[in-house]
Amino acid sequence: MSQRLSSRDIALRKGGSPIVCTTAYTAPMAGFMDPHVDLMLVGDSMGMVIYGMSTTLGVTLEMAIAHGQAVMRGSSKACVVIDLPFGSYQASKVDAFKAAARVMSEVGCGAVKLEGGQEMAETIEYLTQRGVPVMAHVGLKPQSVNTVGGFRVQGRTADEARAILADAKAVASAGAFSIVVEGTVESLARDITRAVPVPTIGIGASSACDGQVIVTEDILGLYSAFTPKFVKRYAELGLAVSDAVAAYAADVRARRFPGPENVYGPGPKTPAKKKSRGKKR
Ligand code: KIV
Repeated sequence: MSQRLSSRDIALRKGGSPIVCTTAYTAPMAGFMDPHVDLMLVGDSMGMVIYGMSTTLGVTLEMAIAHGQAVMRGSSKACVVIDLPFGSYQASKVDAFKAAARVMSEVGCGAVKLEGGQEMAETIEYLTQRGVPVMAHVGLKPQSVNTVGGFRVQGRTADEARAILADAKAVASAGAFSIVVEGTVESLARDITRAVPVPTIGIGASSACDGQVIVTEDILGLYSAFTPKFVKRYAELGLAVSDAVAAYAADVRARRFPGPENVYGPGPKTPAKKKSRGKKR
């Protein structure tokens, strides 16, 4: 039987010990993180931190599926959630189901995530009633970057805060098993967390949430195009890569690498075969 956490296990953690979530896009990184986290999100942030895009909008369903499969192969314990890419679910609830069904069957993950509040509630209900666990995503929604005027903190005005709280309530009533709350002021994150019966997973939304998600490349120092205030650096792997490759390059240029310990010897001697004088076989 699978030892993986399910979306239901995550939902039951409401108000309990904080839920730990990272993004993951590859099998080796998933393997390193799996023992330490509850959830791994194959986020469309991959477009920016892996593929060098300036927004998340260029990520396709095929990319999400391929990276999702890699993360599943590299992990055995965490609940894996796949972000539905921009354009794969907004047009209709039927489109959303087709995209989600492909993801669930081809990846074998625990759930999908989609961005949106009240406007996506009907879609979330449609998916959850048809066997697709959904993580919702309110507040700052990177797929809407072009309509909200960039990546900016949400909920600073009373009207904006009211609308986002209503979004969270709507997606929870529609059946979402958890809600990502991104880029909101602390008071709003606290109000949302109190108001909904499912766990809130914050990113740039304070410790008032039931759990936290972070883009792994941000905390490891592997992405420096843009570092938001809410990111804490736990390692400088980008610098470590640069130093290591510089040392390798210097060794190659000075013919120090490969050294004798990296070279295959002749191997055990075998008696020389007599040359056959007969016909070739
Ligand atoms: O794509 C992503 O990584 C996300 C997280 C930032 C929540 O949606």
